Amino acid sequence: MPVANASVTVRAMSFPEDRPRRLRRTPALRAMVRETELLPRNLVLPLFAVPGKGVRRPIGSMPGVAQLSVDLLVEEARAAQKLGVPAVLLFGIPDTKDANGSSAWDPDGPVCSALRALRDSLPDLITIADVCLCEYTDHGHCGPLLRDVRGHLTVANDQTLPLLARASVAYARAGASIIAPSDMMDGRIGAIRRALDEEGFENSLVLSYAVKYASGFYGPFREAADSSPKEGPEDRRAYQMDPANVREARREALLDIHEGADMLMVKPALAYLDVIAQVRALTDLPVAAYNVSGEYSMLKAAAQNGWIDEQRVALEILTSIKRAGADLIVTYSALDAARWLSDLA
Ligand code: PBG
Repeated sequence: MPVANASVTVRAMSFPEDRPRRLRRTPALRAMVRETELLPRNLVLPLFAVPGKGVRRPIGSMPGVAQLSVDLLVEEARAAQKLGVPAVLLFGIPDTKDANGSSAWDPDGPVCSALRALRDSLPDLITIADVCLCEYTDHGHCGPLLRDVRGHLTVANDQTLPLLARASVAYARAGASIIAPSDMMDGRIGAIRRALDEEGFENSLVLSYAVKYASGFYGPFREAADSSPKEGPEDRRAYQMDPANVREARREALLDIHEGADMLMVKPALAYLDVIAQVRALTDLPVAAYNVSGEYSMLKAAAQNGWIDEQRVALEILTSIKRAGADLIVTYSALDAARWLSDLA
């Protein structure tokens, strides 16, 4: 590039005809060439079901999110559907917990009750049932604990599989459109797929949380779902993935495709956009990403302090997750985002 002096014409670029800024000058131009469009139909709203009636228990660390009894949960889902959000993801907080998490498959538990109520009231809503035992075990791990040969408590992978299958069948029977195992036991997708097929639920889809990291971003969720480990290993690093790894993500994704997953999830989303992009490149299956509780709480806290513009930043985050390759985004901001998107349209 020539340096400015009396005898040389200074050019901004060596190819003056190549001026990307020309395409950004007006809103109409920007809209015409925009590559990624975030839509309400890309969003999934997570909901926490509790027993009872008329119960709304706000979650302190997640402003705007509450545990809801089935009657209020149906109203929240109705609001989502009205705004164009096609799906909800259900978690349950049961009355009773035990070592095996047996309330997970209780047909009268909060998730099964919510699924039946949603099927009756909102037949076109897509219902996704999260399958994991950590909300249902008294020790807070994702499967029953076992003492290994050296006397350490560890989650029993193979004993967990039939329990997950049992919960999955219970949710399918109660009307879940999609079964979403989030436990990270090896072999669970195959076990769940076989159980669903054997029980006549061949049309139930499986959305695997194939790539799930042992993340500090789940902190507020564990308050919401009362699912922090209380006994045995102090965290979930022995079964969830190491945040330092991405080749392992490809391996986990391939295994779950092989075992029959219909869709794959990457979780968390924001700190793992590279992982979303790799999973996107690896498969033609739909890819979902979970914009998790800690991501939401950070956004809310900064917005409440007036440090960032919540609408702008929330939509920027969701657009980035979609740009990285996610078709679907599970987000606690789904209702707000759908509202903002329709205001902007
Ligand atoms: C259950 C589960 C968790 C989340 C979704 N399913 C918590 C965990 O793995 O500890 C986290 C969701 C969030 O943080 O929003 N295993």
